[in-house]
Order: sequence, then C-alpha cells, then structure tokens
Amino acid sequence: MDVCRAVTQRISTRAFLPDPLSESEIRDWLSQAQRAPSGGNTQPWRTIVLAGQAKDDLVKMAAPVIAANPRGQETDRPIYPKDLWEPYESRRRRVGEMMYEVLDIPRENREGRAAWFSNNFRFFGAPVAVFVVIDERMGHGQWGHTGMYLQTLALLAEERGWGSCFQECWGMLRPALKEYFKLGASEMIWCGMAVGKPDTSHPVNTLRAERACLDETADLRGF
Ligand SMILES: Cc1cc2nc3c(=O)[nH]c(=O)nc-3n(C[C@H](O)[C@H](O)[C@H](O)COP(=O)(O)O)c2cc1C
Repeated sequence: MDVCRAVTQRISTRAFLPDPLSESEIRDWLSQAQRAPSGGNTQPWRTIVLAGQAKDDLVKMAAPVIAANPRGQETDRPIYPKDLWEPYESRRRRVGEMMYEVLDIPRENREGRAAWFSNNFRFFGAPVAVFVVIDERMGHGQWGHTGMYLQTLALLAEERGWGSCFQECWGMLRPALKEYFKLGASEMIWCGMAVGKPDTSHPVNTLRAERACLDETADLRGF
C-alpha cells in the first residue's frame, strides 16, 4: 500500500471484529513503528499493549472508575484547553454531530449518546489496546514527536488491513491507569489506541470526518 493511499484511507475505526491479532504480528508492527522520527532521536514514548485477558482485566478495572467519574478523574491536563475557541470548538462539535448522525442517535437521546461514548472504554470491541506513555517532564516538542509515533502506528496498521482509533478519552482515567500499570513517578498515559480488523458492516465506520480547506490552515508564500 502506498503512503498516499494509507493516509487517505485511514479513518478512526470505532467498531471492530473480535478476530485476535497474534503477538508476532503486533511485534512486527511495533518494530516498524520504531522508525518514527523524533527530535534528537529521543524516541520519547513507551507503549503498553494489551490483548486477551490482560485487555479484559483493564476494561473491568476501568468500568466502575468511569461510572463514578463520568467527566473524568481530577487532572491538571484536561484533554482540551478550557473554553476551546473558534474555529476549533466548531470543528470538534461538528465531527461529534456527524458521528451521532450516522449512528442515528439524536441530541435529545443523551443516554444513547453516553452509552455510545462508553464504548471507548471497551476499545470499541477491538482485540488489541495500546497505551502510549510519556514522561511528564517532557516538553511540547516531545509530545509532538509522540504524536508522530502514533500516526506511524496508524498508517502501518492501515497497511495491514487493520483499523485503529486513537483514544485521548483514556486521559480521563489517568490516575487510575497510572496506579494500575504501576507507572514511574513522572510517567503518564498520553493516549490510548484501539486496534484490530474493522467491522465494515457497522454504520459508525462509514463516517468520513471533514477537513478544513487548505487555505484555512496553510499560508503559501513566494510561489
Ligand atoms: C490523539 C487523538 C486522540 C483521539 N481520541 C479519540 C477518542 O478518545 N475517542 C474517539 O472516538 N476518537 C478519538 N480520536 C479520533 C478523532 O475524533 C478523529 O481523528 C477526528 O475526528 C478525525 O477523524 P478521522 O480520524 O476519521 O479522520 C482521537 C484522535 C487523535 C488524533
């Protein structure tokens, strides 16, 4: 698969088949992703990858914690800045509305929307769960490099015929995850990721999120 196709074809997959992925497939995938670039070649990421019972145990641990803290556990690193401003807030809302539209869950059905959202904490049924860990002492540069690593994982997954969904929602359970995984004192979970074969029959996977037009985000000079 060429890069252009992988980039164009990748979507956030939010429904998966239960088919397992083998340890050797996952090792091969992760080994290739190690080629992701990072400033100073620091490679400031660490992953925790769960399948089978290990994934089920994590899901079991998370369920009561998210039920007790539906807005997430206390954190000094909220997922979005407070009072997200335009145009970002509108984009964020728009993709949410598009998703609930393909799922046919109207705004008034708050319970239905909450129930759908809670699928995040079961990795949307994916057989493999990835957590990307970063050292809190790292700066904005290293957070960015870790993002490059995440995208590398997603594109390599695409080439393998797997779907993936990045999951910042796991940041809502940072303290619980830190304790559960016995992370180092300065380590934190940055992002989760669900990985597996996509359920192509599920309506949620028909969603094609929009993008801003190029001139909104790119400033070309001197051409
Ligand atoms: C770092 C990161 C975290 C994300 N976290 C979540 C998440 O917690 N749950 C979810 O359903 N989608 C999540 N997404 C998916 C975005 O909503 C999605 O990438 C965006 O709407 C564009 O859609 P696309 O990935 O299908 O192109 C995340 C994406 C990124 C890059």
